[in-house]
Formats: sequence, structure tokens, C-alpha cells
Amino acid sequence: MTARALLAVASECAPLVKTGGLADVVGALPRALAGQGWAVRTLIPGYRAVMAALTRPRTVLELPDLLGVKARVLAANSAGLDLLVLDAPDLFDRDGSLYLDPTGKDWPDNDLRFAALCKAAALIAGGALKSYRPELLHLHDWQAGLVPAYMAEIGVGVPAILTVHNMAFHGLAAHTRLKTLELPAGGFTVDGFEYYGHISALKAGMMGAQALTTVSPTYASELATPEFGMGLEGVIRARAHDLSGILNGIDTQTWDPATDPAIKPFSAPGGKAVNSRALRAEFGLDRQGGPLCIVVSRLSDQKGLDLLLEALPALIDAGGQLALLGSGDRRLENAWLNAAARHPGRVGVRIGYDETLSHRMFAGADAVLVPSRFEPCGLTQLYGLRYGALPVVARTGGLADTVIHANSAALAAGCATGITHRPGDVPALQDALRQLCALHADRPLFQRLQRNAMKHPVGWEASAPVYAALYARLTDATRETA
Ligand code: ADP
Ligand code: GLC
Repeated sequence: MTARALLAVASECAPLVKTGGLADVVGALPRALAGQGWAVRTLIPGYRAVMAALTRPRTVLELPDLLGVKARVLAANSAGLDLLVLDAPDLFDRDGSLYLDPTGKDWPDNDLRFAALCKAAALIAGGALKSYRPELLHLHDWQAGLVPAYMAEIGVGVPAILTVHNMAFHGLAAHTRLKTLELPAGGFTVDGFEYYGHISALKAGMMGAQALTTVSPTYASELATPEFGMGLEGVIRARAHDLSGILNGIDTQTWDPATDPAIKPFSAPGGKAVNSRALRAEFGLDRQGGPLCIVVSRLSDQKGLDLLLEALPALIDAGGQLALLGSGDRRLENAWLNAAARHPGRVGVRIGYDETLSHRMFAGADAVLVPSRFEPCGLTQLYGLRYGALPVVARTGGLADTVIHANSAALAAGCATGITHRPGDVPALQDALRQLCALHADRPLFQRLQRNAMKHPVGWEASAPVYAALYARLTDATRETA
């Protein structure tokens, strides 16, 4: 049977370009879906780092005037991925990060940058590449949200699914940008992509895609509430029948403690000790008996790391230690550096982004802390499970769906894999940290929990078939109505 053609559209894709979990998912899904009969091509922007990483790219489409910008589409294979890359130097060949300029502010033309990506995707869906025609589009987050609007404009009928990885980012543009973005003025309505007087790329995708998904069942139900829906809860409720929550997996080849080249490999909790010693040394932490906790995270309001700062004395007083790797909000970066200075030997902090170090941290840690205020899915608790670093997580979104709390019943049944606590609640977080220290003091029990965690399925085995079934439903439905 020949595989069916799916075009994924995203602003990030690991291992080429990544700021967060979106990249991991976009990078890992193609391999998972190959086993389900889908051949995925992934369209991403030609950022400077992406262009540098491509070997032998072929130009497959010239676009001399893509929303006023000179561009072309390149095809290349990289890291096992079948890529289409939108090479538009005026939009993507810059210093700074993917979305931010070197001073940390959003690029002023972010709307145009990702609108161009969407327009290119719509053209490809419409048959602009001679030898390639996708049956279906999988759009990721607001950066791909305008694809259905452009397809409608051009008259392309390929079905699309939009995955919302994070409802907090809407991709807003001033309504005065309609012309520049070549969007139909008729779409600027409450039933279209208008959002409180602005153009919302996310809403455009949510209104225009045939199916919506998000990255965990709990987040899917949370999104219908004002607390999590971020002003789009009405759209979510209106499209409830087309929305599903499909849990993320992780790439279990890249994240395999038994073969990981970044660590001293292990396949049982006992093998972590050598990694723990190395990690303590690396972060300047004392050798001592309490649990060694880690945080690997963007430093943003979402992640609740200000709450963890408040709760930190409870962990230290109960004998715990913490190594944190993160970057983002400058105030939080400084607050964490100050915390490390206040607790020498007990708290170590690295500001920055370091993928290899993160592997060493999961390998050495007894626990990974994820005290998020909201978390669509979260991947670091999954890495924690796989590497026997017990997740201590806020009971929200995908965190609630992936960690089995060590209450007395779960402990008795032998199925607990971590600790969950009420989100956004410092005393609850303090209690969770004290519980961690108490569990850790009982070595045989703690190792049992670690073994449970390491056995917990965290790959794509469960979710890849669910995506495949959804894809088949959409393409079959389109065929029937054609
Ligand atoms: P989000 O996408 O909201 O940031 P996720 O938990 O889904 O949260 O994914 C974050 C991804 O980014 C994980 O792969 C995590 O290991 C990685 N990550 C975050 N911050 C850092 C950092 N400072 N250094 C290395 N990896 C990081
Ligand atoms: C977003 C979410 C995170 C999720 C990731 C991948 O960045 O914040 O919870 O795991 O997307 O879907």
C-alpha cells in the first residue's frame, strides 16, 4: 500500500529549530505516522539555522512575489525528515530568535512572516509543486492558522486539521494589515478571523480547519472555560464536536536512558547514582541525602516558576536540592540566580538553553518539578518518567493526564508514578515537595516508584493511530462530498 501524503505546516521542527515542545512534536510525529500509512512532508520557515543545516536542497518552487516578498520553496531531507523549506531571506534570515528580535521584543513583521508561510502552504496544497499534492494538511499553532483562509481565497479544497499547542498565543495583527497580508476583508468578522478588533491567526485556523485537536484530553476540556480559553472559549464550545484532545508522546529513541550518548546509560533506578553524582558536581551542589530535583523550562508566567521560588524553602528545609536550567523572562532569570546565591550547595541555576545538559539532568535527577499554571501537554514530565526522575506536577492539562499521584491507594496498588498538586497554589506545592522528600527517605519505596515511572508508556504508540484515524475520517469525508 502506498503511503498517503500529508503536509504538516509549523514554525519549529526538532532537531533543526526549536524553542519548545512544539518542535519536538512536529519533529517526532512523521516517524510515528510513517507506521500508520502516512507520508509526512513538513513545511517550515528557512530561518538562518535551518538554511545552514540543509544538505543539497533542491528548489522546487519560485515565488517572486509572496505577499510582496521574494521567496522560493526548497526540498531537502534532514534528520530523517522530508522537508519543504520556505526560503525568504527578507523574512527569515536574521539574528535573534525565531519570534523575537535581539532585544527580546516580537519581530514587528511576525504577522507577515508567518502569513507568507501560510500562503506558500496554500499554494502547495493547490498543486503548485508539479509532483506533489497532499491529501491533507496538519497545521500547528497560530503560525499556520491562516492556511485555511488562503486556501479558501485560492479555491483549494484540501481538508486541514489544526492542532492548538498553546491557546495563550493568538498571532494577533492590526486590522490595518488586511491588505498587506492579502486577506479577504470579508473574513474580518466575528465568524471569521476577527478577534476584538484584531486579526487573529489562531482564530482563523480554528474557524477554517475541518478538525481541531489539542495536545491532551484535559486541556481540550479546559479550553472551553474562560480561565483557559483566553477569549476563544466560545469558538471552542461552538466547535466542540470537531475538537479532540490527543496526548503528545516523546521520541523514545532520542530519549532512551539505556542508549543516550549524553549520559552514563542505565535501565534501572540503581544506574542513576553515577549520573546524580556528576550532576551535583556540575551544578556545585553538596553531596547529601535528600532528593535532587530539576527544572528544565522556559521561564515564563505559564510555567509557575515564581510559585516554586516561594515554595523553595519547604524543599530546602526538608533536605532537597534543586538544579534549574532555563531562560526567558529576565526578572525570573535574576530571581533564580539570586535564589542560587542564597542557597549555596543546595540550589544551582544555569540560565540558557542546552539540550545535552538537559539529558544529563534527567539522568541524574530524583525528581522533575513542573508547577505550571496551565500546561497544554508538557513534555518534561514525560522525559522525567522515562529517566526515572519522578514528576512533581501541577494537576492541569497534560500534566494531569500523564502522572499518577502517589496517594495511599495508588501506592498500595503499586501504580503511582509521581506527585500531583493543585495548580497555582504555593502551600499545595510546598506540601508536594515535602511529600517528595518523605517518599525519597524510604529508598525501597522510592525505587519502586521510579521503576513504575520508567515503565510508563510515553512514546507515540497510543496517539499515532488516533491521529491516523482522524486523518482518514477527514479525507474520506472530503472524498464523499467531492
Ligand atoms: P513548552 O513547549 O511549553 O516550552 P514542553 O514541556 O512541551 O513545554 O516542551 C519544552 C521542551 O523544551 C522540552 O523538550 C524541554 O526539554 C525543552 N527545554 C525547555 N527549556 C530548555 C532549556 N533551557 N534547555 C534545554 N531544553 C529546554
Ligand atoms: C506547547 C505547550 C506544551 C506542549 C507543547 C507541545 O508549547 O506549552 O504544554 O507540550 O506545546 O505540544
